[in-house]
Amino acid sequence: MAVILEARDIHLRFGGVIALKGVDIEIHEGELLALVGPNGSGKTSLLNCICGFYKPQEGRIRFKGHDITKLPPHRRASMGIGRTFQTPYIFHGTVLDNIMVGYMTRNPILKSISYRGLEEAREKVEKLIDFVELEPYRDEHVEGLPMGIRKKIELARILMWDPEVILLDEPSSGLSIDEKRDMARYIIELNEVLGKTIVLVEHDMSLVHDLADKTVVLDAGVKIAEGKPEKVVKEAIVIKAYIGE
Ligand SMILES: Nc1ncnc2c1ncn2[C@@H]1O[C@H](COP(=O)(O)OP(=O)(O)O)[C@@H](O)[C@H]1O
Ligand SMILES: [Mg+2]
Repeated sequence: MAVILEARDIHLRFGGVIALKGVDIEIHEGELLALVGPNGSGKTSLLNCICGFYKPQEGRIRFKGHDITKLPPHRRASMGIGRTFQTPYIFHGTVLDNIMVGYMTRNPILKSISYRGLEEAREKVEKLIDFVELEPYRDEHVEGLPMGIRKKIELARILMWDPEVILLDEPSSGLSIDEKRDMARYIIELNEVLGKTIVLVEHDMSLVHDLADKTVVLDAGVKIAEGKPEKVVKEAIVIKAYIGE
């Protein structure tokens, strides 16, 4: 399979804080890459560089053969990158509204508000509500809805624009055991059945072991290991990064 996304020699600093130091990653079409590492190791920063929220001081990012390093986030999204957040981004309105809006990302505004566009968006939204099992909540206002529901809403929203690459930042953090199992099921379906390429930030190493084709380990902004999950977790340097000397 072809390389769909690559980040080369990414350096990102915030004043004196070094978030990423020369990080390289490469993802092939249809792969699930797990990004792991201790808190503060730069996982979220790397996703932000890929989706365009952060601008690295050095390095290049390529997506589907295009250099996207200088493109703003909305352009990257409309090219086919979807990203969810550790704390889901939810706005005032119903569950349905919150998902529906994702349609506009990849469709021109005029189409989005045309009869044909709305019909298409409605059809899609129903399929996605079904996919993430949100039927009982579809017309509820989002205020006060629990984390598990919010994460599903955000996932469904990005799927509205059919991203080829999906960046998931700790999709199962803050979820109950049952909700985690559901989320894992969606991720497997997206990757294995629908062929989506996924970058997954995840702390649960057993989940990483089950789902990932490849694991990249960050520590203090540096890539310290990369490879098959079962191999990577055994490496001494990884164990040290996680539990200390
Ligand atoms: N917007 C920001 N402003 C300042 N420092 C930041 C910002 N985002 C991340 N950092 C810093 O970059 C480092 C990596 O953070 P982050 O990417 O969130 O790590 P992780 O997701 O692995 O926990 C941390 O030291 C963090 O404090
Ligand atoms: Mg993070």
